[in-house]
Amino acid sequence: MSATRSTTSFSEERDVVPAVEAIDLWRHLGDGGTGTQVLNGLSLTVQAGEWVSIMGPSGCGKTTLIHALGGLEGIDAGSISIGGCDLGDASERERARLRRTEIAYVFQQYNLLSDLTALENVMLPLRLAGRSRRGARREAHVMLQRLGLEKRADAVPARLSGGEQQRVAIARALAIEPVVLLADEPTGALDAAASGHVLDLLRDQHRAGQTIVMVTHDHRVAAAADRIVMMRDGRLVEEHHLRAVHPMDLPGLVRLEAER
Ligand SMILES: Nc1ncnc2c1ncn2[C@@H]1O[C@H](COP(=O)(O)OP(=O)(O)OP(=O)(O)O)[C@@H](O)[C@H]1O
Ligand SMILES: [Mg+2]
Repeated sequence: MSATRSTTSFSEERDVVPAVEAIDLWRHLGDGGTGTQVLNGLSLTVQAGEWVSIMGPSGCGKTTLIHALGGLEGIDAGSISIGGCDLGDASERERARLRRTEIAYVFQQYNLLSDLTALENVMLPLRLAGRSRRGARREAHVMLQRLGLEKRADAVPARLSGGEQQRVAIARALAIEPVVLLADEPTGALDAAASGHVLDLLRDQHRAGQTIVMVTHDHRVAAAADRIVMMRDGRLVEEHHLRAVHPMDLPGLVRLEAER
């Protein structure tokens, strides 16, 4: 793997438990003959507090990887640890706890519950994480406000635009203050203004110590991360530590790598 190494590399933090450690992941989907080998011996370590963007062509396995990292999708071989807890060794109870309180997803297809309002969708993980009804309502309101959706709080998803649904999904994911945020194209349905707004929010979260693993096709969004990894055919083929790159060189560099 070639890399533009950062002078402020994360190697100094080697003694700290990584937020995500995926080692040699293999995953085949579909029927044997006609199926696809979606993950091909992929390894990825994300340090606590690090923000990693994953880029790569459609169908290379990004969504499968993001789902696998949080235990939503099985793997055929390999190991995944979240904050030092090996998902393969963990009891069902421990895995459920991780999913409720430490890992949050922003799904590519939003996955909002259609019968619940925007507010209720954001309240749900807070309730599952043990907040009182009143506390969950208050926190959910704050999150919707941060995403500019306070006026849409009582609308069900069918009455929201794609971009509004995406922002509700982001509010829902961030509400529980997860250890790791796994986001699949979190700005895919947003226009430039809304996308900039979400990026600012993610920057704030990141500054507060949030670990973020984010799939994106958008070069500007990808460039907000500490590191970009390039995925192809179910494995990581390249990485760039962005802190080592002069900002003036960034758009060209990222575009070049994404188009290869
Ligand atoms: N249930 C399934 N059965 C068979 N093949 C599948 C299944 N789910 C996904 N695939 C295939 O696995 C490959 C990787 O899919 P994945 O959704 O992870 O790609 P992606 O990189 O997220 O693509 P995109 O950028 O379009 O979202 C694709 O070729 C897809 O068709
Ligand atoms: Mg995808």
